[in-house]
Amino acid sequence: MIILKSSLEIERMRAPCQIVSETLELLRQKIKPGITTLSLDQFAEKCARKRNAVPAFKGYSGYPYSLCCSVNNQVVHGFPTNKELCSGDILSIDFGVLFDDFYGDAAITVAVGNAGENASALIRITEESLYQGIEKASINNNLSDISAAVQSHAEKNGFSVVREFVGHGIGRSLHESPQVPNFGRPGRGVKLKQGMVLAIEPMINEKGPEVRVLSDGWTAITLDGGLSAHFEHTVAVTANGPEILTKL
Ligand code: MF3
Ligand code: CO
Repeated sequence: MIILKSSLEIERMRAPCQIVSETLELLRQKIKPGITTLSLDQFAEKCARKRNAVPAFKGYSGYPYSLCCSVNNQVVHGFPTNKELCSGDILSIDFGVLFDDFYGDAAITVAVGNAGENASALIRITEESLYQGIEKASINNNLSDISAAVQSHAEKNGFSVVREFVGHGIGRSLHESPQVPNFGRPGRGVKLKQGMVLAIEPMINEKGPEVRVLSDGWTAITLDGGLSAHFEHTVAVTANGPEILTKL
């Protein structure tokens, strides 16, 4: 069942979403060669708690950290570690919080120091794919119009779309119906309605789309060792079109 949010509820969702986007921006400024992802995790948790928000991922199905930190060939759900980042790495950071009964969720991918040409293109195209999807999050479009727009932009540019993980509805729960795949034909799935709030989150691979999960039960990596990037926004479907609640 898809839970529609009233305008008042969407207003309340702005606070957790802003805490997430402001934290991600502060994290972005800290990402430099020599920094550890564990220090980013601790910083993110402090940012949330200082504002009376609760990190959403810590303890979720047993996930042990506040932040997901996925480096290079890691796709999503990487654990923060005390290994120093190197120039040329790419790092995806995914963060969510609970505040005033509602969740916000977003992710960005950042180049550490000087990224290679392919890495930079992958990051840029993944973010563009997210925005192509968001543009379709309008009343009377179908859910799969979002999916198809993401897929088409990624594949047109020679990259591939991860199938195993998808976006999701979000509100009083971190994960609500519907699932939001990043692939598919347009014109399918539910009609988008005013009051739907969706976390749209393309995971795009440099080479093949296949992934596998490490024995830690969480870290997803590319099967062929290629790079992977991830961007996510929490988006409300409103009478005035898509509204990005996690926009800074
Ligand atoms: N943004 C991801 C999601 O919405 C992060 C979840 S990590 C988890 O699924 F630990 F909470 F599962
Ligand atoms: Co999400």
